Amino acid sequence: MGKENYIEFSHVTKVFPGCKALNDVSFSIKEGEVHALLGENGAGKSTLLNILHGVFLPTDGEIRIDGEPKRFANANEALRFGIAKVHQEINMVPELTVAQNIMLGMEKTKGGLLNGSYMEKETEKLLKRLRINISPSDKIRNLSVGQIQLLQIAKAIYSNARVISFDEPTASLSSEETELLFSLIEELKQDGVTIIYVSHRMDEIFKVANRATVLRDGAYIQTFDVANLTKEELVKSMVGRDVAMFAKRLKPSRVDKSKVVLEVKNLSINNQFHDISFKLYKGEILGFFGLVGAKRTEVMKAIFGADKLDSGEIYVNGVLTKIASPNEAISKGIGLIPENRKTEGFIKVMNNSDNIALPTLKKFETNHFTSYKKRLKNCEEIGKIVDLKPKDPEFMTDNLSGGNQQKVVLAKWLSTNVDIMIFDEPTKGVDVGAKSEIYNLMEELVEQGKSIIMVSSEMTEVIGMSDRMFVMHLGEIAGELQREEFSEETIAMAALEGKRNG
Ligand SMILES: Nc1ncnc2c1ncn2[C@@H]1O[C@H](COP(=O)(O)OP(=O)(O)OP(=O)(O)O)[C@@H](O)[C@H]1O
Ligand SMILES: [Mg+2]
Repeated sequence: MGKENYIEFSHVTKVFPGCKALNDVSFSIKEGEVHALLGENGAGKSTLLNILHGVFLPTDGEIRIDGEPKRFANANEALRFGIAKVHQEINMVPELTVAQNIMLGMEKTKGGLLNGSYMEKETEKLLKRLRINISPSDKIRNLSVGQIQLLQIAKAIYSNARVISFDEPTASLSSEETELLFSLIEELKQDGVTIIYVSHRMDEIFKVANRATVLRDGAYIQTFDVANLTKEELVKSMVGRDVAMFAKRLKPSRVDKSKVVLEVKNLSINNQFHDISFKLYKGEILGFFGLVGAKRTEVMKAIFGADKLDSGEIYVNGVLTKIASPNEAISKGIGLIPENRKTEGFIKVMNNSDNIALPTLKKFETNHFTSYKKRLKNCEEIGKIVDLKPKDPEFMTDNLSGGNQQKVVLAKWLSTNVDIMIFDEPTKGVDVGAKSEIYNLMEELVEQGKSIIMVSSEMTEVIGMSDRMFVMHLGEIAGELQREEFSEETIAMAALEGKRNG
């Protein structure tokens, strides 16, 4: 391993209006190690990385790289210095091609002009070597968040970065893409690249990290050697108390098989999914597992009226129902909590109380003034349930940490009185403490007689929480499993191989 104090965070403090995101944080990262950065939602992880990359200036303190104090003006300057980031926000230009984006800032010119065919050839070689199956001439806007993240890694490698920071890289990756990510990280390690890794998935930390630093409420807590660390110790350090770490039903099942609240028959959208038929019972938590490409999100969006079906029928409480828009879905008692919260979950220019009140605006209609007061109160009440930080109802949702944004999106639906809730990846990017709160909440909802569809790519979560499960494979239902039949093997087989028809 290389230099002991390669990257030194020294007394780093960051104050945002109304919030101290980092408070006197000091620790160092060794050259060539994988250093995990951990903590609950809002602990300050992304802020610290953003200061390293020159996205934010520190209010106080400094960062030294190889002994030299460094302050980059922006992320591109950091990249030219050899410090790359693979983060959730999409920092590629949607209208440009894959090749153009990878070469952006590093273009080779010929007679002063961009040489398109050279760029495409270089990119093709690069992507091939990295086993990333994307065409150099594709437009970024046609790619998934996961694919764009893989391209960010390719770009980092192409620029010969010596340091790469990953901020929740697997949150939008399929399990195949995740495998690829880990093998790329392994190669980067071999080449002596220093890696900073943020994730809420404990298993990943133990798989990739040499050391782990925990932040809590903006303060430095502790740095561990991962080799002799247990999950319990780590979680306790992050949360400051003991928490349940696994998805588990604590209350008896509430399924009432005599009441079918939702039934769909032969739903199809050409080129996406076909012949999707299933029933959802009152009080049920119905899991939908599948690999990315299985089209679970697409099915749910179609049921919610956000995408148009080519054929098929939807019955709500036994009645054939046309759902042409999300508003119609809500009026029929169906809510959807989307996977992609940054673009679909909340409105950027609104504060928490307004975002939370969005699906239920009618409830708040009186005169303008009392309505606002009611919304604030509503936000305070629901904010408590999901443990929103900060609790301030007037805080802009866009300035919340990633996990707390997810909580706002959840909170929105809790104030509605829809009876059928579709949760698409409800705990993505959410910390361990909040995860167990969300699980408790789901149990409370079914206890109240509501029914839940939970789309999730975390097998432990679907197994732990579902009464029954469907596994999807390439746009088809590959299998239905009762709770007694759940096993990782059966589920994985169905997800990988699809339906077995002799
Ligand atoms: N632009 C901003 N304006 C005001 N407050 C901000 C801004 N950006 C971040 N914060 C606040 O700083 C704190 C730390 O946020 P940060 O995004 O660093 O958390 P995090 O550890 O990455 O959390 P998560 O796991 O949820 O992504 C939070 O309380 C957040 O609300
Ligand atoms: Mg973050």
